[in-house]
Amino acid sequence: MSKQFDYIDANQERFKSELFDLLRIPSVSTDSSLKGEVKNAAQFLSDRLKEAGMDEVHICETPGHPIVMGKHQKAGPDKPTVLIYGHYDVQPPDPLKLWNSPPFEPVVNDGKVYARGACDDKGQAYIHVKAIEAWLKTGGELPVNIKIIIEGEEEIGSPNLVPFLKEHKEELACDMVLVSDTAMFAKDTPSITYGLRGLAYMELEVFGPDRDLHSGAYGGALTNPLNALCEIVAKLKDEDGVIQIPGFYDDVVELSPEEREAYKKLPFDEEEWKKSIGIDAVAGEKGYSTLERKSARPTLDMNGMWGGYQAEGAKTVLPAEAGAKISMRLVPNQHPDKIAELFTKHIETIKPKGVRIKVTPHHGGHPAMTPLSFYGLKAAAKAYKDVYHKEPLFAREGGSIPIVADFKNVLGVNTILMGFGLNTDAIHSPNEHFSLADFHKGIKTSTRFLQILPEFTKE
Ligand code: BES
Ligand code: MN
Ligand code: MN
Repeated sequence: MSKQFDYIDANQERFKSELFDLLRIPSVSTDSSLKGEVKNAAQFLSDRLKEAGMDEVHICETPGHPIVMGKHQKAGPDKPTVLIYGHYDVQPPDPLKLWNSPPFEPVVNDGKVYARGACDDKGQAYIHVKAIEAWLKTGGELPVNIKIIIEGEEEIGSPNLVPFLKEHKEELACDMVLVSDTAMFAKDTPSITYGLRGLAYMELEVFGPDRDLHSGAYGGALTNPLNALCEIVAKLKDEDGVIQIPGFYDDVVELSPEEREAYKKLPFDEEEWKKSIGIDAVAGEKGYSTLERKSARPTLDMNGMWGGYQAEGAKTVLPAEAGAKISMRLVPNQHPDKIAELFTKHIETIKPKGVRIKVTPHHGGHPAMTPLSFYGLKAAAKAYKDVYHKEPLFAREGGSIPIVADFKNVLGVNTILMGFGLNTDAIHSPNEHFSLADFHKGIKTSTRFLQILPEFTKE
């Protein structure tokens, strides 16, 4: 291994400065004015993959943002094929005033690089680009066949990747998918994520009188849409934190007793966690631990809410309308479309008289699980151990990467979630950052994984 590791050590500074170049590109997928920048990020990755020595690299156009695809299949048909997936698009950087430095001007502080996308997912996706390079630039060949897709629409629900998978099903055939887009359980605690939650995201609008009204002249005699919205939302959970939508839990796969035992052994410090986010009490579904609640149980949360007067001072007014964005995180085997439908139906039955409502589902995603017995996970565990000198933990995560379920459904393969981020890396938030030590170790872990994978046979 030393040849590849020496190369990674020797090129550490260049790898970082390349990552910083990628971080300077504001590839915000949801901002149509930045379409050209999203394309620039795709071009950057395509160029670096070509330079790394990958055989075939293309930028595949889609109706939305392009997909960077690469292939290198010199290991031969008797060796496994790994499909690496990542995303180069990022979330919008706002609120800008909360950043300590501009989001697209990477700065290093205390061993971490600060920039939008540093962890989610440019920094983590780039790990594999450099691991491929480490194999191809040290006089050798890749020990396994590699395919890679890095997309530009993950943060908007991957609308064009699912059709792309279906269209290129044969071309993308593989034995497993490797993704670095999750977090480690804690600092210096390598972790393999074996489950992700799904998502149903709804917009709920409530309409009342045909205009805003004087809250004195009219107040008390009609349903206020903003009050109605609050009543509706308040009815969606009971005091035990149980979601009240009929049928919501019907398909939920409960945590197994073994899983609950394993969860108890995870090194989670609840006091520390509370401190890390500035709260003085946890809350959630009765009968479940904090870790279970935030990774293996379904949720319902408002993500935004509006209506009425929001500016300085007081304005006495009854709003004509109000609205909210509501996310429901789903666990196996909940179906996002079915949940969206149950939600919509239920809202109709609980809405107060005198208002109209409109429910609009936004993009969703299926939950995903990788069986703990999957041989790829064992190879990943060994690779982590060899680099971090610690056995990795196995845990589920509460976030969603909807395409992971499609890898299973369309390509028929399991995904290895080999994360190098931390939950405290502030992804989607101001001051997102990524540890440069983990960037470096990540490249080594990926390199090592590709080396040892052939030793692990299918069970
Ligand atoms: N990398 C995240 C998913 C993630 C976050 C996994 C934290 C594990 C821990 C991904 O880029 C993401 O943000 N996904 C979105 C879903 C998407 C449909 C917008 C999410 O989870 O909100
Ligand atoms: Mn991500
Ligand atoms: Mn994200």
